[in-house]
Amino acid sequence: MSETQQWDILYKNANLFTAHSPIILQNAALAVQGEKIAWIGSANQLHNLTYQADREIDLFGAWIAPGLIDCHTHLVYAGNRAAEFAQRLAGKSYQEIAAAGGGIASTVKATRAASEEELFYQSAKRLQCWLDQGVTTVEIKSGYGLDVANELKLLKVAQQLAEQFPVTIQKTFLGAHALPLEFKHSADDYIEYLCDIVMPKLIASNLIDAVDVFCEKIGFNLLQTEKIFRAAQQFNLPIKCHAEQLSDQKAAVLAARYHALSVDHLEYLDPQDVPLLKKAKTVAVLLPGAFYFLGETKLPPIAALNANTIPLAIATDANPGTSPTTSLLLMLNMACTFFRLTPEQALLGVTINAAKALGLAKTVGSLEVGKHADLSVWDVDHIEELAYRIGDNPCIQVVKHGKIVLDKLF
Ligand code: NIG
Ligand code: FE
Repeated sequence: MSETQQWDILYKNANLFTAHSPIILQNAALAVQGEKIAWIGSANQLHNLTYQADREIDLFGAWIAPGLIDCHTHLVYAGNRAAEFAQRLAGKSYQEIAAAGGGIASTVKATRAASEEELFYQSAKRLQCWLDQGVTTVEIKSGYGLDVANELKLLKVAQQLAEQFPVTIQKTFLGAHALPLEFKHSADDYIEYLCDIVMPKLIASNLIDAVDVFCEKIGFNLLQTEKIFRAAQQFNLPIKCHAEQLSDQKAAVLAARYHALSVDHLEYLDPQDVPLLKKAKTVAVLLPGAFYFLGETKLPPIAALNANTIPLAIATDANPGTSPTTSLLLMLNMACTFFRLTPEQALLGVTINAAKALGLAKTVGSLEVGKHADLSVWDVDHIEELAYRIGDNPCIQVVKHGKIVLDKLF
């Protein structure tokens, strides 16, 4: 007679999207003990087991997926850029608006002017939308402060969000997002200031998990990008990069040399550079919201990425300028319609591959025994409906570290 299994929660009559092998497990069960997934198996296997569960939940065929992961957001900012949207509709480009002092600079102004409390309030309202959609891990980039005090304020808000929401927040330093007014005539001095003053201060406050750069004609050049990468490497911080969004700067090639966790956007990535990502084990993060909102027509080199089996992640890029969305679910649909990903690829892009893009794949991103019990439960006939639906939210339960934190099951 086998030992009795003790569980806190047992889900029965469930279908699982594991994001692991086998990717789909139908007519299955999943048990949670403490903060971890304790058992996964078929209904038959469960039948042959002796167990005791404090709570048994019959899902009547609903689907469990890993808690979703949004691996690229700029979620903490103040204000909005609706006026610039109108300008773009009237024919101005994103680059022209940025050159005229709008764009990222206008959000920097609003974010600097906001108190920590205001910034928290505006950001918390947004983050709640992610949690409502089964998202249990969110990356948040800085980059609307651009000086010590304001980058600190923004990252502290991200930290407070982590403390007050049942969501893991990964904090990425994106000081090299835009040139602040005070350094208007010297990008190199600004980069030096970021490496020598800003980064060490933020690291001392334990507020950075990774470092990102916006490498672009309207951002920072390749040499400046490499300076930031080198500083990150010296501080032992992983690297991410806004690469090839508006033009081919060879930022992805550089990032791969530094074994970046991810390169993000990639519309202008040269297919010939893709094998370098493979060698570096770098994840390609696709951001269909920004592609859509900027009216971009150049597609990322999906065929080359697939041919080289590069892990693809999908993220919102939530920000007021190029992707004013709060919906990771909508991004699944857009990744399929615009980039021709399969629904399964899109789902892997917001689970295991998004975990890889954050360096968290050992603990989250798939349903595996021993991983964190971060779960999302869905009222759908098949999990691929998450990518099929437009602007719908069939999430009925969310579990974070073994605790039910959102419950619409009845
Ligand atoms: O990922 N490209 C740079 N950063 C953001 C846009 C930020 C903004 O416009 O405020 C992006 O698209
Ligand atoms: Fe971005």
